[in-house]
Amino acid sequence: MAVDTRVRVGSIELSHAVMTASGTSGHGAELGAYFDLSRIGAVVVKSLSVMPWAGNPAPRLHPLSHGMINAVGLQGPGLVAWFDEHLHVLAQHGARTVVSLWGRSVEEYRRAAEVMAERLSRPGAEHIVAVEINLSCPNLEERRGIFAHDADLSADVVARCQVIDRPVWAKLSPNTDRLVEVAGAVRAAGAEAVTLVNTVVGLVLDDEGVPVLGNGGGGLSGPMVHPVALRAVADVRAADPDLPIIGVGGVTSGAAAGALLRAGASAVQVGTATFVDPRAPMSIADELVVWAADQGFSRLRDITGRRGRGSD
Ligand SMILES: Cc1cc2nc3c(=O)[nH]c(=O)nc-3n(C[C@H](O)[C@H](O)[C@H](O)COP(=O)(O)O)c2cc1C
Repeated sequence: MAVDTRVRVGSIELSHAVMTASGTSGHGAELGAYFDLSRIGAVVVKSLSVMPWAGNPAPRLHPLSHGMINAVGLQGPGLVAWFDEHLHVLAQHGARTVVSLWGRSVEEYRRAAEVMAERLSRPGAEHIVAVEINLSCPNLEERRGIFAHDADLSADVVARCQVIDRPVWAKLSPNTDRLVEVAGAVRAAGAEAVTLVNTVVGLVLDDEGVPVLGNGGGGLSGPMVHPVALRAVADVRAADPDLPIIGVGGVTSGAAAGALLRAGASAVQVGTATFVDPRAPMSIADELVVWAADQGFSRLRDITGRRGRGSD
């Protein structure tokens, strides 16, 4: 059975439900050496701030039996340099691009949004299809904890990003019991979709009790967090069936991508699997199509929120 791979996320249509996840596919077209970037739904670039940022001390990644822990610390060239160095390369690859933004204060997010807004008239910027606001960052200025753990703070950031002439997606944290509340707040503030979820906080010690990462703790990802992502997607979907969701967490197969769609996501992102095989976003995109046909679905968009088989 031929499967129509097009999905809608809010106001935009993507040619496929599978995208890359921020921070796991480089800043630009790095994965273009392994597959045709125009064949997946979108490339989500590593989160960028208004200033260049050095990130955390090494070691930054540590493999675990069912995933990994990382504390990269949002290293990046800054938004201005990214526009100069990376956007045109992504455009040459024909990649629909999602720019992820982060900040340490509401003011820094606002400035990042302004820089984005100014540069959207540049050649190549037509490839930017959405902006994903990474809210899983500590608020250093007002000292109010992680943005995504506070509904008002998250809504404030999203409201200030409305100057950007692109759909705004809010990427939320699973490390809070307020997820549903925060999702509702960012929607009310103008987010067209929520991306669920970022990494799960954790700590890994070596045999002598010393943290394996230079930063101490870090974020867990990969298959071990897949049930966390499923739960987050299902909870937000149950609370607000009309809010588009992008599911992310432990997608390593077409079936795992399909499970997130069934839980209520309209699209999915592939992160840690890319560290095992840089072709993973493409191969999982292809596997999802085979899985969907096996399940009796002729359109990926029909799987969202559906239990059981499709209608064939
Ligand atoms: C090494 C690494 C770096 C990451 N960097 C970012 C980032 O810059 N911005 C962001 O929103 N999420 C970042 N994430 C989180 C992923 O985008 C994703 O939400 C999470 O890893 C769960 O998906 P996965 O299990 O498929 O990796 C990072 C994850 C990893 C493993």
